[in-house]
Formats: sequence, structure tokens, C-alpha cells
Amino acid sequence: MDEKMLRKDFIELYGDGGDIREYFSPGRVNLIGEHTDYNGGHVFPCALTLGTYGIMRRRNDNTLKFSSANVKKGQVVSVDMSNLKYDKKYSWANYPLGIVWALKDKGIELESGFEMLIWGNIPNGSGLSSSASIEVLMAKMIQDQYEIKSLNMLDLALIGQYSENNFNGCNCGIMDQFAVAMGKKDNAMFLDTSDLSYQYAPIDLKDEKIVIINSKVKHSLVDSAYNERREQCSTALQELQKELDIKTLGDLDIDTFEANKGLIKDDIVRKRAKHAVYENQRTIEAVKALKRNDVESFGKLMNESHISLRDDYEVSCPEIDVLVEIAWATEGVIGSRITGGGFGGCTVSIVKNDAVDDLKRRVEKEYPKKTGLDAEVYIVDIGDGTRRI
Ligand code: GLA
Repeated sequence: MDEKMLRKDFIELYGDGGDIREYFSPGRVNLIGEHTDYNGGHVFPCALTLGTYGIMRRRNDNTLKFSSANVKKGQVVSVDMSNLKYDKKYSWANYPLGIVWALKDKGIELESGFEMLIWGNIPNGSGLSSSASIEVLMAKMIQDQYEIKSLNMLDLALIGQYSENNFNGCNCGIMDQFAVAMGKKDNAMFLDTSDLSYQYAPIDLKDEKIVIINSKVKHSLVDSAYNERREQCSTALQELQKELDIKTLGDLDIDTFEANKGLIKDDIVRKRAKHAVYENQRTIEAVKALKRNDVESFGKLMNESHISLRDDYEVSCPEIDVLVEIAWATEGVIGSRITGGGFGGCTVSIVKNDAVDDLKRRVEKEYPKKTGLDAEVYIVDIGDGTRRI
């Protein structure tokens, strides 16, 4: 599938003519700063060249038509604009539909409907943000086609998050939609989620590659476990606020946390807060290390991040731990960790150029033996954010 084929499919599905426009929206990988974005901490993601292509045309009536070439060819989900409600039977189309709902909720009502077709090459459920990619794609397509000049790319990211929180029911932070909307070729984004200030940081690794390995595991109940972590962090914050003047866990340095962690009553809740505080500090350190070209220290912090996500935040799973351990045992791997929300999905590793093949071979040999699954290995190219093409 490519853009030309998508256009052909669009015309076959909806007919020719009118103002048909094409767009692209990336997926993302987070290098470090996991589960910090809803704790007022820092994250360090980048946009991928993998992503979702979208094609759209306005209609003259009040119908919204959604179709995905990744699902059944020719299948269209039709929704009347007077009835913007989440419905399980719409399946994936709840993501783009949620954007129309979110815009309406914010006072931006479309004058007429549209028809759209998407196709993506981000493996589903891999923790590389296929849903945020679709959300920001939909928001961008609408902003462009209906000429909504009041919305910039950051607004589109926030609308994506609002829709995911309030329409699709996952209480996610802003990292994914931000990374997808604001991505820049060959740069990662150092985002402070407490005030949304950010800096681009060039990633020009000469001797290393960023490698993503997909475990092919997707556990059910991801959203409920995610929401539970979020609530535990909020409990910890409330308990700490009895003594400390802080707005988020991201306001805490390690010493202050250690001196006050006794305020948190429950052991598990204390472990969750510990991760949020330490991971935020690790992310700040990691970006400093990268700026001074100290890739080794960056890698060590990635490893510490994994251990904390595995033991304190408990969002890893046995299959992901196998992948990380294979990477750790491979000479030339500088750092490796789980990336994204967790409970399956992908690992991200920084690997010396001449160790990439060795890592691949080991994963191909050892991962199926230990898990019965085949993993997939990708070398990351960092791309631009959502755009018309
Ligand atoms: C998911 C969420 C993000 C972020 C990560 C964990 O990807 O959508 O907001 O919380 O998990 O870092």
C-alpha cells in the first residue's frame, strides 16, 4: 500500500471528484520519561517515519464516513453528525469520531460531513501510538479542510488527548498526541508536561542506531491498569501535599521525596510515586547527557528506567523483560527499556552500529524459545509531525 493506492481505493469507495486531500501522521517512540506525563514531569519522545496516511473530502450532507484499509476493504462506518456518541460497534472509528465530538464540545461545529479513508503501518497495540496518530491525523484533516485557523498544532494535540480521555475512556497524558503533532525530523522533543514548554534536541547518533523491538504481546485490561496507576499517583500526591507545597510529583527532587515518602501510607502507592519522581529526574539527566554527547550515560539511565518500570511501577511483562535481557546481554547495546504505556508492546534500545545484526540474530533465536512468539525488529528513522502531503 502507498499513497497512490490509497487514493485509488478512496475513489473506488466514495467516487471521484471534489477536493480530495492527503495527509500523514506519524507514530512515536519515547526514549525516556515513562509515566511522567500525567505527573507534571518530563518526557523525551520522537516521531517516527512509520505512521498513518489519511485521505478526506467534505460532503454536502451531515454524514461522517470512516474507512480503514487496515480493516476490511470496502467497510465504511457511517455516523450522522447529530448523533456523536461512542459506540462499541464503531470499533477503531471511535478514535476519529471522538475528534469530531471533542471539537463540537469545544464549540467548533462542522458545517457538513466528510468521508475519509486511512491506512497505517504502525503495528497495532505495539505501544507506538497508533491511536494518537489517528487522532491527530483526524484533527489535522478537519482543521485543514474546514479552514479552522484558530487551531495550531499544539491545540490539535490537546484535542486528541481530550477526545481520548473523555470519548474513548483512557486517561492518558499529553505525550503521545504532542509527539505526533509536533514531531521534527532527526529530533527528539524534551517536553515539560507541567507547562507544555519544550525544546527540540537533535539526535545525530553517528555510531549508534535506535532500535525498536515489538514483543507482539498486547495484554487486555491495559486501559484499566493504566487508569489505576494514574489514580495511585494522584493518591500519593494528595498525601504528600499534606506537608509539602507541590502541585505535581514532578515538582519533587529525589532528596525531598526520600525525606517525605513516609507520608504515603500504602507500600504500592509509595512505589508508584517513587517511579514517577525518579523517572522525571532520570529524564532531565538523560537529556543533559545527550547534549554533551555522553551516549553511555544516556543508555545507563534507560536501563534504570526499565528496572523502575518493571519493579516499582509494574507495567512490564515477562515477554518484554526477555527482550530487554537479551539486549542487556548483547555486547554493543548501550541501553534498553520498555517504551510506551506498558503491559506488552515494544522495547527501545540504543545499539552500536556494528552490534545491530548480532542483537537481531539473538532476538530471532532466543525470544521464540523463551516465549513461543516471534518478535519484530525495526531501526528507527525520526520523522516530522502530522501534515498534509
Ligand atoms: C501511554 C499514554 C501516555 C504516557 C505513556 C507512558 O502511551 O498515552 O500519555 O502516559 O503511556 O509514558
